[in-house]
Amino acid sequence: MSDQIKFNLAEADIPTAYYNIAADLPKPMPPVLHPGTGQPIGPADLAPLFPMELIKQEVSSERYIEIPEPVRDIYKLYRPTPLIRARRLEKLLDTPAHIYYKHEGTSPAGSHKLNTALAQAFYNKEEGVKKLATETGAGQWGSALSMACNFFGMECEVFMVKVSYTQKPYRRILMETFGATVHASPSHLTNAGRQVLAESPDSLGSLGIAISEAVEVAATSGGQVKYSLGSVLNHVLLHQTVIGQEALRQMDLAGEYPDVVIGCVGGGSNFAGLAFPFLRNKIVSPDGRDTRFIAVEPTATPSLTKGTYTYDFGDTVHLTPLVKMYTLGHTFVPAGIHAGGLRYHGMAPLISALYNQGYIEAVAVHQNPTFAAAIQFAQAEGIIAAPESAHAIRVAIDQALDAKARGEKRVILFNLSGHGNLDLSAYEQYLGGQLQDYEYPAEQVARALEHLPHVGDVVPA
Ligand SMILES: Cc1ncc(COP(=O)(O)O)c(C=O)c1O
Repeated sequence: MSDQIKFNLAEADIPTAYYNIAADLPKPMPPVLHPGTGQPIGPADLAPLFPMELIKQEVSSERYIEIPEPVRDIYKLYRPTPLIRARRLEKLLDTPAHIYYKHEGTSPAGSHKLNTALAQAFYNKEEGVKKLATETGAGQWGSALSMACNFFGMECEVFMVKVSYTQKPYRRILMETFGATVHASPSHLTNAGRQVLAESPDSLGSLGIAISEAVEVAATSGGQVKYSLGSVLNHVLLHQTVIGQEALRQMDLAGEYPDVVIGCVGGGSNFAGLAFPFLRNKIVSPDGRDTRFIAVEPTATPSLTKGTYTYDFGDTVHLTPLVKMYTLGHTFVPAGIHAGGLRYHGMAPLISALYNQGYIEAVAVHQNPTFAAAIQFAQAEGIIAAPESAHAIRVAIDQALDAKARGEKRVILFNLSGHGNLDLSAYEQYLGGQLQDYEYPAEQVARALEHLPHVGDVVPA
């Protein structure tokens, strides 16, 4: 068994509960604030957007929250996902490091996003909601929610960031195959979209704008439509912890424990999903193992490495509550030349807090070295990674090379959050030498931060 590659669990090993890191946090989370009053919000403020069960999960401090049986039943289509030892990559790099990846690209939607999409569709359906509205950037989240709504017999309306809508017709077709309605955002269908188009008729769109459109559709529906978000929120990160719980057991099967856990971060959900169950061991039972947790972001959207830890809106036109997070400012619009996804202006409040307290590290990487790593990975392991996941691969390879330079055995675990079979245009641009490295300019960060909301003295909830 010494050259084993796949570490698989049985269907019966699919976790029965989500792990809620809020129960183990060293410090309580800053409250979420009402955008009008600046005071902590209550469940009633969120009720127009989310079903009550998800609102409860958002503020829950219970350590484990049971996974509903109908959700576990659909998880059986693809979970447990494999843990794979990247032996061929190790050989290619000639490194003493052991590299493992959790392959979430084996989900039928193509990424980890289905883990929360199924849970969210289920809880909405249980409370009589007929339709979900959402945004999507590159299309992975929209694909996952379309598929989940289809499984639970619900309608799905997706606002897709215009630049992706134009560049990625296959993702749109996939969503439509599952019965979703897809619009290019900004659209003329909402006040938010019309407002942006009046100011910038050629807007390429952004996640912040698409969120405003989807939130508006839900908020003005009289309760028929709810809103669904694919990252950032506590309950989304919670649902993704099936990844790390499985990986803990699979690393056990491999007889190893990671020295480094790596994930790319957009809003933070796949990184949290893999990292939080391992992080629990560090927070709750410090056992002498000094595992490092590295969140990887693009230099084009450097919310952790260049953003500010402060209260900001989750969307562009101020429809969402204020959350304390690392942010580039809610007016942030990513550069059109950036091909690697991960375009959100902020970072999940849970990850922001853990980063601020020193439990998590962050690294920003340029897109050319990121795609170079993805090509090395593809050639060694045979998998075309999603451009987002390629950021994690870059740092996993850097870690393996560093271990080699130091002559150290290091156990590296990263999240392969999705496959990139529908993202080949980004690979084509890289292979054609058309990708430019781009660093979000410091002046622009400063300018965007001028639009941050002013929050007075906050009374903790
Ligand atoms: C494959 C894949 N990985 C990662 C991400 C980043 O999101 P998050 O940080 O929530 O995992 C996305 C976002 O769309 C994605 O599609």
